[in-house]
Parts: sequence; C-alpha cells; structure tokens
Amino acid sequence: MDNRPIGLFDSGVGGLTVAKQVMKVLPHEDIVYFGDTARVPYGSKTKETVTKFSEQIIRFLLTKDVKAIIIACNTASANSYHDLIRTFPEMPIFEVITAGVESCIAATKNKKVGITGTQATVRSGAYELGIKQRVPDMRIYAQACPLFVNLAEEGWTDNEVARLTAHIYLDDMLAQGVDTIVLGCTHYPLLKRCISGVVGEKVTLVDPAKATALKMKKFLEQNDMLSDTEEGRNTFYVSDHTPSFDNLCERLLKTHYTAEKIDIEKY
Ligand code: DGL
Repeated sequence: MDNRPIGLFDSGVGGLTVAKQVMKVLPHEDIVYFGDTARVPYGSKTKETVTKFSEQIIRFLLTKDVKAIIIACNTASANSYHDLIRTFPEMPIFEVITAGVESCIAATKNKKVGITGTQATVRSGAYELGIKQRVPDMRIYAQACPLFVNLAEEGWTDNEVARLTAHIYLDDMLAQGVDTIVLGCTHYPLLKRCISGVVGEKVTLVDPAKATALKMKKFLEQNDMLSDTEEGRNTFYVSDHTPSFDNLCERLLKTHYTAEKIDIEKY
C-alpha cells in the first residue's frame, strides 16, 4: 500500500477532463493537480519551452511527495515525455499519447483515422509515430484545432461558432472517410457533444483520458502501490487564479474546489 498522492498536470483547465477520469477509476487515491493557467497555451510554444515548463511542474509536484505522475497535457506528453523520464528517472511518469494511440487502433474498422490536437502536438508527429509503429498501413489525417481551446475556455462548447469551427477543422478528414477521430488535446472532450454532432454517429471519438487512468490503475496494482484511504482527497494548484479554472472545476467535477496559486517559476 502507498497512500501518497498521484500528481497530474496540464497547461491549464483542460487536464481536469483527465483528473475526472482518474477520480472515477481510482476513487481512493489522493490527487494533486497543477494547472499552468499563467502560461497556457502550450500548443503554440516550442518543444524546449514546453519541456522547461513541465520540468518546473514536476519539481513542484515532487515537493508534494507524489508517488507517480500523469502528464495530462497532450502537448507536453507529445513533446517532452522522453526528456522528462530521463530527467526524473526515479519517478513513474505516464503520458496520454500511448493510451490515445491504443484506443484509436482498437476503435477503427476501416484503418482511416483522424488526429486532432494543438499545433505543437500535431507538429511533433507523436500520434502518427505511435500508430504507424503498431499498424504500418493505417491512413492518418492530422489537423491542428487551436481554436477549440479558446472555445472550451470561453464555455462556448455547443453553439453555432463551435459547430462552424468544428466543420472547418474536420470536414477534410471526414471527406477522406475516417471512422475514428482522436481528441488529442485535453480541452477537446469539453466540446464532445458539438464535435459528435458535426462528425455524425458513425465516427468514433477517442478521448485518451479513461485509458490513461486505467494504465495508472494497472501500474499501481502491479506494484502494490494502491492507496487504502476511504475516499481520495483532491488538491488543486494553479500558476494564476482564473475564472475559467474555477468555473470548469465546478462544472466538470460538480464540487467547488479552491485552487492555491503558486509561483511555478521558482521551481
Ligand atoms: N492542454 C493542452 C493539450 O492537451 C491544450 C491547451 C494548450 O495549448 O495548452 O494539448
């Protein structure tokens, strides 16, 4: 047994979609969440910057005595995971891309899949590489959808603007006949209803969050590291107090949490 918390981080509010799944799959675990609300978005930044930010966050999470870490952010997972496991070799670190890749392969029937994500995630080619290593003849259509992040932050998750934006981003890959689309950014599941309406019910939308939470569960089980506390406690930290964080926390997690602001540049 290991009652230390699990650390989770994202560039901002989006990672709460991953935190929600971890809370569902691992209800006895304590969670320490960090959202880099002062420096979001990561999707328009370089690999070097995203890696530097992620290292600072992990150093902060280490001060909270976490037993394992989930990089909830696709952009940080795609660009920085390999550097981070080299920098922090003692810490079990999980990313979200592998779960997304495996879920997407399991879901497609016609071997034509769409990948959506931030510019930095699409540019990294991480999803394509993961899929091609496992299924070399998969047809992959990737599209950066940066405006989805702003729509989600604004709470415009299912209106005319969101629908039009989704059409502009996704119509080309739909015309190519994809039967599966990976929501490769933590914000995109917030627009799931709108995106579903645009792509139609025959297209499967893959959110890597649940499969990532299940991977963490398996790891903790196999290493006898599950917590035996009655009910997991959740603690939230941010680099800036923003209304969107509080709003989404309340909307998504159905509870009011007070996030503590910390100076991440110190780490
Ligand atoms: N959280 C980021 C991701 O999953 C998206 C938002 C951003 O650009 O920082 O890729």
